[in-house]
Amino acid sequence: MKAYMYDNLPGDQRLAHDSGRVVDVDALKKIGVLYYRLPELESLNKLAEERGYKNRDEIVVSPEKMGDVYESKVKMFFDEHLHEDEEIRYIRGGQGYFDVRSQEDDWVRIQLEKDDMIILPAGIYHRFTTDESNYVHAMRLFKEEPKWTPLNRSSDLDGNEHRQAYVSQYLT
Ligand code: LAC
Ligand code: NI
Repeated sequence: MKAYMYDNLPGDQRLAHDSGRVVDVDALKKIGVLYYRLPELESLNKLAEERGYKNRDEIVVSPEKMGDVYESKVKMFFDEHLHEDEEIRYIRGGQGYFDVRSQEDDWVRIQLEKDDMIILPAGIYHRFTTDESNYVHAMRLFKEEPKWTPLNRSSDLDGNEHRQAYVSQYLT
């Protein structure tokens, strides 16, 4: 895992966009983002049990696996959005970038690779992309019923109870 401020320069979303300004795990925690390195599946299972993540599935995001829809899916994942539940991802192979909004509403880019696990809190604005390798294999975990629905950023969401709960816990 490596996290840094996104450079906001033009160029494909899959490029590193590394400004050189590092962001550490504590700073991620302050915006409610939890990071774990879990080389053993056993430790993932333990954490899942502790946090009540009863269900899981695995997805491969790649042109080989997805065919023609790959490019449009990757563009869609990169639309800024939030969810009304945590987004929990455990990387099994390949790499990917999660971008999350900082306290100042700037993008923090989190580069994840095999054995990295991330938990994004409900209500945080974020987006995702593969990198130049165009391959990531991830486990998605969830508590009960999966709520994958992305709610794209808009002022209409300011009043959303999950957004409001996030803002009052982490941004005020
Ligand atoms: C998701 C990623 C794209 O919602 O954030 O699955
Ligand atoms: Ni998401």
